[in-house]
Amino acid sequence: MKNLFIVANWKSNKSTQEAQKWLEEFNASSEKFHEKKVIVCPPFMLLPTMNYFIKTGAIGVTLGAQDISPFGEGAYTGEVNGKQVKEFADYVLIGHSERRKYFYEDEKMIEKKVQMALQNNLIPILCVQDDKGKIPQGVTIVAYEPLSAIGTGNADDSENANRMAGKVKTNGVQTVIYGGSVTAENVHSFTSMSDIDGVLSGGASLDVQEFTQIIRNA
Ligand code: PGA
Repeated sequence: MKNLFIVANWKSNKSTQEAQKWLEEFNASSEKFHEKKVIVCPPFMLLPTMNYFIKTGAIGVTLGAQDISPFGEGAYTGEVNGKQVKEFADYVLIGHSERRKYFYEDEKMIEKKVQMALQNNLIPILCVQDDKGKIPQGVTIVAYEPLSAIGTGNADDSENANRMAGKVKTNGVQTVIYGGSVTAENVHSFTSMSDIDGVLSGGASLDVQEFTQIIRNA
């Protein structure tokens, strides 16, 4: 059986209090999803508090960041560097389509961020929209997220997503997950595919009941 990755991308949502409530409810409703790797990526601000609650409550969630500075420590106002992220998280999303669209991230920038993640022992989850871009060295997890499916309620066809995942794997990537309008209803159509190793959920992950149902159904 595959070891599935179920990743939550909260984007720019939730306060500390809301995050704590989410974790409490997650812990209460989860039957310890042992065989599934659950990774939650909240905004930077929430990482320390969530890390504290996860550790003290022995909650079965691993943290990821949504971004990382392309630089190390130093005079880079507003940036959060890899060493700081690593204090609280083990994974980091890189190159999400919203970063590419609203913050003009290009392939060069994304490659630098991957390097910073690897240098700080963070596992990058590289987000790609198609099979055309270059996959930087050292990337082992890729999230295939077609633009037409993100936040639209219009998920990709699972056969097509599987084909794309297969193509990405020809670049030596071991793990490919699917993202874009994943719900509790459609998740299994993706995770049952031979080359899809999990899902990345945005909007649906904000609701803890929907998210735990996604994990159950995956
Ligand atoms: P969505 O977002 O699940 O809301 O479509 C997915 C993503 O952008 O990572």
